[in-house]
Amino acid sequence: MNAPSNPIFSRRPTDRPVAPDVRAGLLQDPGFGKIFTDHMVTIRWTQDRGWHDAEVRARAPIALDPAAAVLHYGQEIFEGLKAYNFGNGSIALFRPEQNARRFQASAARMSMPELPETVFLQAVDELVTIDAAWIPEGDGSLYLRPFMFATEAFLGVRPSYEYLFVLIASSVGSYFKGGEKPVTVWVTDRYTRASEGGTGAVKCGGNYAASLAAQAEAIENGCDQVVFLDAAEHRWVEELGGMNVFLVMDDGSLVTPPLSGTILPGITRDAIITLAHKEGQTVREERYSMDQWRSDARSGRLKEAFACGTAAVVASIGKIKSTAGDILIADGSTGPITAAIKAKLVGIQRGEIADEFGWVRRIG
Ligand code: PLP
Ligand code: COI
Repeated sequence: MNAPSNPIFSRRPTDRPVAPDVRAGLLQDPGFGKIFTDHMVTIRWTQDRGWHDAEVRARAPIALDPAAAVLHYGQEIFEGLKAYNFGNGSIALFRPEQNARRFQASAARMSMPELPETVFLQAVDELVTIDAAWIPEGDGSLYLRPFMFATEAFLGVRPSYEYLFVLIASSVGSYFKGGEKPVTVWVTDRYTRASEGGTGAVKCGGNYAASLAAQAEAIENGCDQVVFLDAAEHRWVEELGGMNVFLVMDDGSLVTPPLSGTILPGITRDAIITLAHKEGQTVREERYSMDQWRSDARSGRLKEAFACGTAAVVASIGKIKSTAGDILIADGSTGPITAAIKAKLVGIQRGEIADEFGWVRRIG
């Protein structure tokens, strides 16, 4: 199914770009995922031709046959990564090859063709270069959203023989409305996200569709994000709807749930583990129960907690809520270890701290 092919990109810039003054207005306070750039990249895959028709073109709606397989059986995967403005016209991406590889892993799990890493990276470079003016100054970034879905018009249940890869970009600021304020999380005892053998470890749209009811429950309860527990015992902390989770203990060590196959192997999670090891901090990738979280927060053994991901970066968790009641983590404010990890990570992502890990990929 993976006819190898490295398509040549054709470039057809839009003849109707957003006017510079309008764009500048949009970039004032972009929020998350609302402001889109002028262009997109599309690449087609068919069983007989492999990857072909790679195009950089005006961002526009996509026509789909009503029988397109994605609309019925949800064969869709996506990624999320960011481009940063380093100043002096220099732009950089953070670990994009990791996104390319995870995209391939997601494709394999969803019986979809794997986009070669070089093609994924070229698509990203092409879009960031043509839409560079959309990278906000200051704390903002350009959030890149590669995705792929089944386009074949066929209602039988089997992997599609045709796919479309699309890359769009969105100028973003903070993911959470409260900005830097610590978030409150809701522990759902009603819904689970992923079970063993399922799709929890890959980035397919269906995981997020299934999380929306739990996220709505979180919002009804005045929380920013939902925490999922494992599906087998409803006991072990897994991850948030769109972020991994870390706990900081009173001895300065970090605990994060292991990559058991039911949580997303976050690229930010991996970077934080690497940074913490470098600082000599102990990181335990081990199962941690909700009961333990409650009792450690009460006893003071738990000093800090934070969520992390590309969109959210590092977000301090100030409070946990559930049907069993509310618990404040320490005094509910951002702790020093969370703040230090965030500063180091953001510093590297933005080119303000030397990158000794080879994470930053410059464009141009
Ligand atoms: N977990 C889930 C469910 C996510 O959607 C994300 C976001 O991508 C993450 C974790 C964090 O992954 P990453 O750090 O690669 O963005
Ligand atoms: C990301 O962080 O890139 C995600 O895909 C998570 C989502 C909540 C926006």
